[in-house]
Amino acid sequence: MRILSGIQPSGKLHLGNYFGMIKPVLELQDPGEPFIFLANYHALTSAQDGAVLRQMTHDMALDLLACGLEPERGAFYRQSDIPELTELTWLLSNVTPMGLLERCHSFKDKMVKGIPANHGLFAYPLLMTADILAVQAEVVPVGRDQKQHLEVARDIAMKFNHLYGELFTIPKPLIRDDAALVPGIDGQKMSKSYNNTIEIFGDSTSVRKAIMRIVTDSKTVEEPKDPDENTIFALYQLVATDDQSKAMAERFRAGGTGYGDAKKELHELVEATIKPLRKKRQELCKDPGYIQRVLDEGAEKAREEVSKTLRRVRQAMGL
Ligand code: ADP
Ligand code: TRP
Repeated sequence: MRILSGIQPSGKLHLGNYFGMIKPVLELQDPGEPFIFLANYHALTSAQDGAVLRQMTHDMALDLLACGLEPERGAFYRQSDIPELTELTWLLSNVTPMGLLERCHSFKDKMVKGIPANHGLFAYPLLMTADILAVQAEVVPVGRDQKQHLEVARDIAMKFNHLYGELFTIPKPLIRDDAALVPGIDGQKMSKSYNNTIEIFGDSTSVRKAIMRIVTDSKTVEEPKDPDENTIFALYQLVATDDQSKAMAERFRAGGTGYGDAKKELHELVEATIKPLRKKRQELCKDPGYIQRVLDEGAEKAREEVSKTLRRVRQAMGL
């Protein structure tokens, strides 16, 4: 089964990325074939410093490998090493109604707020469509924020197939109910752009500080609390066993458990989840050429697949 997902190297990896996208990929990588990439073309819609983007792309590669991605099972690559993706984007743009892109939240939200958007941001979902269709991906693990983009990809694939013959696999999103929208420490969606993240590879002190800053209401220790309206519990469930989660929910409901203590317990479990990943990252850092070798191999493999698809698309469209 061909699995594909991408992540923008536009900041530090956080728990939302881990539970929303990375963990589902890891769970499918055996026996699946994961094509995972660093979406640095996409990151250009917000990044303006070349040196910073290059460094963040390298760091994000290291982060994903430290999380347990096994590149030899599929391909792990930088999007920009496959320039054919931009050609496919252009070809697909000719079967893409304007309205489809105008309806996308990422673009519409800016328009509503009167913030000027560039064409990169407008065409962003189309480049994503090219990423997915170019390797004939069957399953795309993502967080809920990407759902609409997956619908665009499916619409365009169907429209193309209708016009030119059954060329593209219709991709299916994989959005896990339990981690579709991991909240940040302010209760909104955890996101690199909102400054509300718990970083996976932050040091132990910064992780603790972020957890201690989780926003709560002002209920006293004694008062009963609703676990379902509580960011601490939402995060706790991701790192705890079912039994631990049940026990914590009961303690909240019964009263007598304060937010401070719950945060400490959450911190312990987050640390236990992150610690082995940090260790792996340190080991990977010992071989400075490793990342480049992995990305070069990944690019070669992905480029072969993308070129195969592109040749068929060009042929079908009369080029
Ligand atoms: P960010 O919003 O922090 O910039 P990205 O847009 O690069 O993150 O997302 C990379 C992947 O992680 C996507 O599949 C996205 O859906 C997923 N993801 C990001 N934030 C969350 C979250 N808070 N909950 C669940 N999944 C998330
Ligand atoms: N837009 C995605 C994000 O910000 C990253 C991405 C780019 C992606 N291309 C993709 C995700 C293709 C899944 C499939 O999270």
